[in-house]
Amino acid sequence: MKLQNDLILRAAKRLPTERTPIWIMRQAGRYLPEYRAVRAKHDFLTMCKTPELASEVTIQPVDIIGVDAAIIFSDILVIPEAMGMHLEMNEGKGPVFTSPIKTKDDVLKLKDPDPSKDLKFVLDAISLTKKELNGRVPVIGFAGAPWTILTYMVEGQGSKSFSKVKKLVYGNPELAHSLLEKITKATAAYLSAQIEAGASIVQIFDTWAGILSPRDYQVFAMRYVQQLISEIKRLQGPASTEKDTPIIYFPKGVHYLMHELKEVGADAISVDWTLELEKVRRKIGDKVAIQGNLDPTVLYAEPSFIKREARKVLESFGKGHGHIFNLGHGILPDIDPANVKVLVNYVKEESKSFHH
Ligand code: CP3
Repeated sequence: MKLQNDLILRAAKRLPTERTPIWIMRQAGRYLPEYRAVRAKHDFLTMCKTPELASEVTIQPVDIIGVDAAIIFSDILVIPEAMGMHLEMNEGKGPVFTSPIKTKDDVLKLKDPDPSKDLKFVLDAISLTKKELNGRVPVIGFAGAPWTILTYMVEGQGSKSFSKVKKLVYGNPELAHSLLEKITKATAAYLSAQIEAGASIVQIFDTWAGILSPRDYQVFAMRYVQQLISEIKRLQGPASTEKDTPIIYFPKGVHYLMHELKEVGADAISVDWTLELEKVRRKIGDKVAIQGNLDPTVLYAEPSFIKREARKVLESFGKGHGHIFNLGHGILPDIDPANVKVLVNYVKEESKSFHH
């Protein structure tokens, strides 16, 4: 089926577009009353595992906000769950693994998941969403980066000091590497299956990339993202125009190593708001597209302020192709959807003059 709007796919490949495409990380979520209405009737994991519900909330921001892509409603933590870890969603506290990874035995016990069985609900949600969208916008698939997934598996939940995961990488690096290998392998199969099921582009979230020193980031995080991407590309077969699905990598908090990052294999690098797009573009824009990077909290402000800040992002990237507009991290749950619409409409209109 031909896509009516493939702006994000072209931008990710740095091909000409009439305007800058925009979508928003965590766009399928709690800031939308329509999401909360569905969520009031079902718990989070049930929503993830029921393709009709996942698909419904995936499409909501396309209908309500007018974004240029639909990211599939799911979570990065379904992979460790499929590897055999017990996941609980505690209301107000977020996701928790009740028995985090501690020993070699724990790692050996993890399964090699078969996406077509163990993660079938995600694949079904993608194909259903694709059918329902009927070519309006592309579907974005996603997964966590190996480092970020390892962090959750070892900490059991979010953390401030990351003591447990740091103890593992510094105290028993061999075990960390064997776990990273396992996660990388599982994630490559999973993302490839998402592409087979109908995802036209995928994003790898490395939310905890920024907690490592530059050297450790390369050893424990970047290296595995590189492996992950080359494995996805290998599983897809030789790059033809048809199948060369773009890959976006989001290394949150990584400000150094831009030159190395452009070699990670991703088509686009997503950056947070603490970087200037102009500088990032000068360093890596000849090789990769750039996604970002409005500060998510700008959306608390008045429409005129939101427009001014969005304009600065467009100007910082400058004229030409290869920019996907997004926030520098996920949208916050208490943002007014009206402000999100202001942003999306503004970028759609104003970005035209940056493309000739
Ligand atoms: O972008 C989208 O709209 C697609 C859906 C999506 C969710 N989680 C739904 C979700 C995506 C892409 C994610 C990714 C994710 N999940 C990340 C990486 C992105 C990032 O923001 O850094 C991380 C670290 C997680 C793990 C996770 N899931 C946490 C820490 C939490 C609790 C905190 C929070 O934001 O609520 C979740 C729960 C979660 N994932 C919700 C949603 C909509 C809220 C669940 C609810 O309705 O109560």
